[in-house]
Amino acid sequence: MEWLDLSDSKNLITLIGAIVILAITVAIAGRLISKMKHSKADGQLTTEEWDGIREFTNDIPVGWAASYLVLAIWAIAYCAWIYPLQGFSQLGEYNEEVESFQAKLANKMTNASEADLQKMGGNFFLLQCAQCHGETGNGMNNRAADLTTWGTEEGIIDVVLNGSKGLNYPLGEMVPLKDTVSAEDAKAVAAFVMQDISSIGKTKYPELVNKGRAMFDEATCSACHGPDGKGMDGMGPDLSTYGDEAFLAEVFARGKKGHIGQMPSFREPMVSEVQRKALISYLKTIRE
Ligand code: HEC
Ligand code: HEC
Repeated sequence: MEWLDLSDSKNLITLIGAIVILAITVAIAGRLISKMKHSKADGQLTTEEWDGIREFTNDIPVGWAASYLVLAIWAIAYCAWIYPLQGFSQLGEYNEEVESFQAKLANKMTNASEADLQKMGGNFFLLQCAQCHGETGNGMNNRAADLTTWGTEEGIIDVVLNGSKGLNYPLGEMVPLKDTVSAEDAKAVAAFVMQDISSIGKTKYPELVNKGRAMFDEATCSACHGPDGKGMDGMGPDLSTYGDEAFLAEVFARGKKGHIGQMPSFREPMVSEVQRKALISYLKTIRE
């Protein structure tokens, strides 16, 4: 029985204690019930009377007192040796199991091929992400983020023009810049961020990179993201990780409030680094 590990002395003692208490309780209850059936009650009666009913002043039956005492001792011992004082809990055990599973998985996947990662990421996506982002990852008409453009120039252009919020950085939300930045300038700055700042290191619009480099200051990106785009020590998002595993780790840890609701957080150990890598490797296959 995997759920009940009796080689663990705490489990064994707790279980024996519970069985003893149960046995005492059943034995005593049985004896008292049969006594009630077969013999007439006797002893000293109290003087108070309630609608003709009077109580005996008998002591508590010894058996009752004993099982009450054993139960109290058992409860105190449980608190002292098992939970909460020793931190043993089913949730803790569960987390440990998840961690050991994740460690095994990480071991197995250290030298996994890109194809294996993609497959694993794809399965994970269908299981955990598709219900909001859609099977194709397109965000189902803005229900959730469109992941076919997240991590691409188009994703950055959209953020620059329309803003972004919900990741809960100290700088707050990124306001839409479409009143001050033209679509063409947004495209240039996106090309620069993709090629020179992000780890993706290339862009669909290489001819715009030089213009974008100047725009990064002019359009005030550097004021919030820092001159190197690294987010000024966590004040805003680190654009050097945009679209990759480290950025996903931030999103998963923070969760994200979208226009239509909240993306839950997918923290470690429930989602491990390997699983994030696999997800990114899959997301790359659906990016436009
Ligand atoms: C007023 C400060 C500010 C300015 C100016 C600013 N940003 Fe941001 N940016 C932020 C904040 C804060 C976030 C995180 C928003 C969130 O919570 O989703 C962000 C998020 C982003 C993201 C990540 C979006 C995502 O998908 O999570 C990108 C890319 C980005 N900014 C690029 C730029 C570029 C390029 C410029 C210049 C045109 C720029 N930002 C100007 C503050 C700023
Ligand atoms: C309960 C619905 C829900 C689930 C499940 C969900 N998401 Fe999201 N996700 C959202 C919403 C809502 C947003 C924010 C959209 C917006 O800004 O309007 C979002 C945003 C994102 C973003 C963009 C973050 C950014 O920086 O802008 C990424 C990447 C993402 N999700 C990946 C995932 C992955 C991978 C999974 C599966 C492990 C997942 N999501 C599961 C609802 C969900």
